Amino acid sequence: MANPSAQLIARRADFQAALHGWYRTHQRQLPWRASPSLYKTVVSEFMLQQTQVATVLPYFDRWLRELPDFAALAAAPETKVMKLWEGLGYYSRARNLHKLAQAVVAMPAPPRTPAAWRELPGIGPYTSAAITSIAFGEPAACVDGNVVRILARLTGETKRFSTSVDAAKHFTPLANALIVDAPAGDHNQAMMELGATVCFRAKPLCLTCPVATFCAARRAGNADELPRFVPKQIEQRSVTRLFVVDRDRILLRRGSANAKRLAGIHELPEACDLGVKPAAATLVATKRRTITRFSITESIHAIAPTSALLKVIAKTEALEWVPLEQLDHVTLSGPHRRWVAELSKR
Ligand code: ADE
Repeated sequence: MANPSAQLIARRADFQAALHGWYRTHQRQLPWRASPSLYKTVVSEFMLQQTQVATVLPYFDRWLRELPDFAALAAAPETKVMKLWEGLGYYSRARNLHKLAQAVVAMPAPPRTPAAWRELPGIGPYTSAAITSIAFGEPAACVDGNVVRILARLTGETKRFSTSVDAAKHFTPLANALIVDAPAGDHNQAMMELGATVCFRAKPLCLTCPVATFCAARRAGNADELPRFVPKQIEQRSVTRLFVVDRDRILLRRGSANAKRLAGIHELPEACDLGVKPAAATLVATKRRTITRFSITESIHAIAPTSALLKVIAKTEALEWVPLEQLDHVTLSGPHRRWVAELSKR
């Protein structure tokens, strides 16, 4: 018997008819799908990297109102761009999107091929395929975690992948074979939609799946076990942060302009930024969060601004006193804004 990928490719026309027919009637009404434009496609694809549709929706609307096209975005000050992104996380996306708009307005016309888009800031294989298929009908398949999951199940692939990048590479030839002769933008969005609304990671809705008859995992009854990954090594980290309030101002640390993750983003300073020993301060909150493969415990200590501390602060460029009433005007990372609000109420 032919291998499952070859079998699926042999039934490509029927597979596409089932998938696209379902997408036409079941797709969610999303703002970047209504009267689509290249700009809306680019902004939505940047926001949707690592972020769910429901989280993106209010950000997308506000962004389009404030920065309606590439020219407006290119001309906007960086502080405005970061402020509009505040709370979405992974801030390098916002900086790259800003630079990308500046590059695009400097060109006679925006590029049209995946390879040309990949030359622009913040664009990888997935985003270049998404943008050029949706905006220009380029036959480039998007392969993200959702699509990997669908293809692993359709083909019953039980191989254990080391990383999501490995898995995406493994399934890219199949994904590209399945997009042949399809309206590429709709095909890619139909795959994303299937992953987001039917082919869930846990408890997939196989009973209502439009392509269930093509699915090897459905036949084997192991859809919720696929795809398989080598378990990630989670690394524990701990960080001590300081909550320093002096009358009506709070001490924050501004990420340096060339910091990869937090350039221009404010956070509560770390004890080591001020040479403070945690024992000298009072523990007021303990927060846990997971970022990529790190499980981070952040203990926040309150400390009074003694004159010795004020001297250290004055000498440290990245530390900044922000008046509490101005807090809405600086860009704080999402968790830090919540923590500051919580601790200021005490
Ligand atoms: N995720 C990434 N791109 C998307 C899109 N265009 N529509 C819905 N979800 C997405």
